[in-house]
Amino acid sequence: MVALDLVARDRLSSSLHAAHRVAETIDGGKTSAWLALGEDVFADDANRPQHLKRMPSFPGDVLDPAQSHGSLLLQITGVSARAVEETAEQALHALPQWQVRWRLDGLRPDNRTEDGRGLARNPFHFTEGYGNPSTPAEVAERAAVKAGQGEPAWTVGGSYQVVRIIRLATDFWDRDTVHQQERIVGRRRDGRWLDGTPRTEQPVFAADPLGKITPLDSHVRRAAPDRRNPPPLVRRGYNYHHSDDDQGLIFSCFQRDLAQGFEAVQHRLQGEAMAKYNLTVGGGYFFVPPPGDGWLNALA
Ligand code: HEM
Repeated sequence: MVALDLVARDRLSSSLHAAHRVAETIDGGKTSAWLALGEDVFADDANRPQHLKRMPSFPGDVLDPAQSHGSLLLQITGVSARAVEETAEQALHALPQWQVRWRLDGLRPDNRTEDGRGLARNPFHFTEGYGNPSTPAEVAERAAVKAGQGEPAWTVGGSYQVVRIIRLATDFWDRDTVHQQERIVGRRRDGRWLDGTPRTEQPVFAADPLGKITPLDSHVRRAAPDRRNPPPLVRRGYNYHHSDDDQGLIFSCFQRDLAQGFEAVQHRLQGEAMAKYNLTVGGGYFFVPPPGDGWLNALA
């Protein structure tokens, strides 16, 4: 992920066109790329996605300005770190209109797809991704802006992307037993539920009102208490590793409504048992434009 700032504000339109052209040339062979727009590229409110703002600091966050926000997010993914690195260098070389604000490399160990869901292992040794939908239609339902949502017409088919750089106290976490860790998350490391429900089915939290099996302050119970109404967001995180003292998760999620998606879940997670093991130090709110280049005309 590379967050960029404009070199010259009066060249916003041509700078966005240039970034779009560069992202388009990254063709999906060894690497793929997409752009997401920060709130400050919108000079007038008529075109601004209605929820887009500078990411606020949530209770417990210690946001470092050098790792937060940005006018444009360029995300490059690929099957090898070297391919991603090379593509990033070429892209940045072709974009003198933009300067790097922050940049962070991420990895998805044990990256795989099962039943349509992308899974990976996070730095806490847990499999992540089971809570995501398994079909493209459900992904679009949660993530893509629809007509009639009160958003500017150009945004339909786009998505709000939230990035949170979350430092994880892995040493401290590794001192707990696996059993304790699983009670903090509310799932087994391999995704099975604590009440024995298979990983891709729904647990019966109602049968455990006091949280004896799945604690009330566990991550999944706070994140998604109502099993019939899953939070309308799709997660896709990466692990980062700067040093043994600075490693964690590049949490990233997509939603069509920021308030009902990320923000509602983030509020519910306040005070969860996992809170003392993590610290959010950066990230930002962005908007991924819909495919094609119609959005450039809407903004120009
Ligand atoms: C501190 C870093 C975090 C870690 C280590 C973490 C880890 C996990 C794990 C292991 C799961 C269970 C497997 C899965 O369904 O993917 C999970 C589920 C989930 N997490 Fe996180 N997470 C973190 C931060 C967040 C944040 C910041 C949010 C959103 C504000 C979030 C939202 C969710 C949601 C919605 C689920 C699915 C719950 C369900 O459907 O049961 N997580 N997380």
